[in-house]
Amino acid sequence: MAGLIPQQFIDDLLDRTDIVEVIDGRVALRKSGQNYSGLCPFHNEKTPSFTVSQSKQFYHCFGCGAHGNAIGFLMEFDRMEFPQAVEHLARQAGVEVPVERSANPEKKKKQDSLYDQLQKAQDFFSQQLRQHPSKERAINYLKGRQLTGETAKAFAIGYAPPGWENLRETLSKSEKDEQQLIEAGLLIKREDRDGCYDRFRDRIIFPIRDNRGRTIAFGGRVLGDDKPKYLNSPESPVFHKGNELYGLYEARQASNRLSRFLIVEGYMDVVALAQHGIHYTVATLGTSASEAHLNKLFRMVPEVIFCFDGDNAGRKAAARALDTALPILEDGRQVRFLFLPEGEDPDSLVHQEGKDAFEQRLNQAMTLPDYLFAAVSDGLNLDNLDDKARMSKLALEKMQPMPRGMLYELMIQQLAQMTGLSTDNLKETAAKGDGASASTS
Ligand code: GTP
Ligand code: MN
Repeated sequence: MAGLIPQQFIDDLLDRTDIVEVIDGRVALRKSGQNYSGLCPFHNEKTPSFTVSQSKQFYHCFGCGAHGNAIGFLMEFDRMEFPQAVEHLARQAGVEVPVERSANPEKKKKQDSLYDQLQKAQDFFSQQLRQHPSKERAINYLKGRQLTGETAKAFAIGYAPPGWENLRETLSKSEKDEQQLIEAGLLIKREDRDGCYDRFRDRIIFPIRDNRGRTIAFGGRVLGDDKPKYLNSPESPVFHKGNELYGLYEARQASNRLSRFLIVEGYMDVVALAQHGIHYTVATLGTSASEAHLNKLFRMVPEVIFCFDGDNAGRKAAARALDTALPILEDGRQVRFLFLPEGEDPDSLVHQEGKDAFEQRLNQAMTLPDYLFAAVSDGLNLDNLDDKARMSKLALEKMQPMPRGMLYELMIQQLAQMTGLSTDNLKETAAKGDGASASTS
C-alpha cells in the first residue's frame, strides 16, 4: 500500500498546476476582470457566484462558501480521495508521485486487514439475505417497512442469520483471523470457555461506511420486539462514532451537488428518506451530533438541518445540538431545526406524505437564531421588563461561544429589537461576559 506523499511534492505539484485549467474542463468559466467566474457546481444557482483566481490558485463561491485549491476541487467535485486527486494532477503534469515510507507501516498493515475482514463480513451478510434458509423472514421484515430492493442494494443492507457462530465459521480460519474479527467488533470472546461467538445474530444489518466507501462498522436491528432494538459495532481502530455519520457515503454517491444535509436519528430514517429521493440525509450513530460531525458536513455544504421528534426527548436533543453548533457557526454556515409532529419520525412521515410535503417541512424549518431566542424565552413573558432583562441575559450567555461574525452582529440587533435595549448596551454586557469567562478559564 502507498505511504505518505511528501509535502514538498504536493507544493511543487500545485505550483505546476493551473487551477483554471483543472476547473474549466468541469465548469464553464468566463473571464471577468482578474478572475474567472461561473455557476457554482456545489449549490444550485442561476447567477454565477463561483470564482476562480488564477493568481491565488484558489476557487471560492460567494454563494455557498465552497473554497479550496486544485486538489480540494477534485476531492469535492469528482469525489476523489486526497491521494487520488494528487495522482490525477501528477498525471496531467507528467510527473511521478513519490512515496515516503509510511510513518507507521505496522499500524497501516493492521488497519488494512481490518478493512479486509469488515468487507468480507459485509459480503457474508448480504449473501445471507439472498441465500439463508430463513431469508424470507428478513425479506418480509424489509418489505413490511416498505423498503425496495434497490434501496437495500444502495445501502448494502444484509442479514445476520440466527445462530451463534455463522460468521465465525465462515470467516475465521486462523488464530489471526479470530483476533482481527474480535478487534473489528464482529466476534465476542466467550467468558466461560475458549472461543468466540458472533456479535450480530438474527438481525438486519446496516453497514456503516467511511468517506471512501470502506465498511468500518455495522448496525444491526432485531426483526421483532426483542431488546436491544439496535446493536452497533464498538469503537475500533477504524471506527470512531464521534467522527462517522451513517449515510454520508451513500449521499455523496447519489449526488455530487449536495447543497444541504439533514441530520436524523435513525438508520431507517436515512434509508427511507433516500428511497423517497431525499438522499442528503445522515444519522449519528446512537450519539448526539459532535462538533467533528458538523465540521465534516460544513466542509461539503453551507446548510445543515437537524431533525427532531416533537417529544420531550427531541426538545432535549435540540438543546444539545444548539450548544454543539454555536461555536462553529462561522459566517456562511447555516443551521436549522425541524421538529416533527409528536409520534412521527422521518421514516413514518415520508412514507405517509411523500417527498414534496416532507421537503416543504424542511424548507420551513426554524432558523438557529429563531430557535435560540425561542428557547431562552421559554416560559417568559416578554411584555414584562424583568422577563425581558432575563431573556437578554440568557440569550447573551447562549451566544457567548459564537464566532464574532456577521451572524452574531445580526442576532445582537434582533435581540435589541426584542428587548428594547441598545445594541451598544448588549455588546458591552456580552464583552463583560467574555471577560468573565476568559478570566475563569
Ligand atoms: P425503527 O424502530 O427501526 O424505526 O428505529 P428508529 O430509528 O425509529 O428507532 P429509534 O428512534 O428508537 O432509534 C434511533 C436510533 O437510535 C437508531 O437508529 C439507533 O442508532 C439508536 N438506537 C435505538 N435503539 C437502540 C438500542 O436499543 N441500542 C442502541 N445501541 N442504539 C439504539
Ligand atoms: Mn422509526
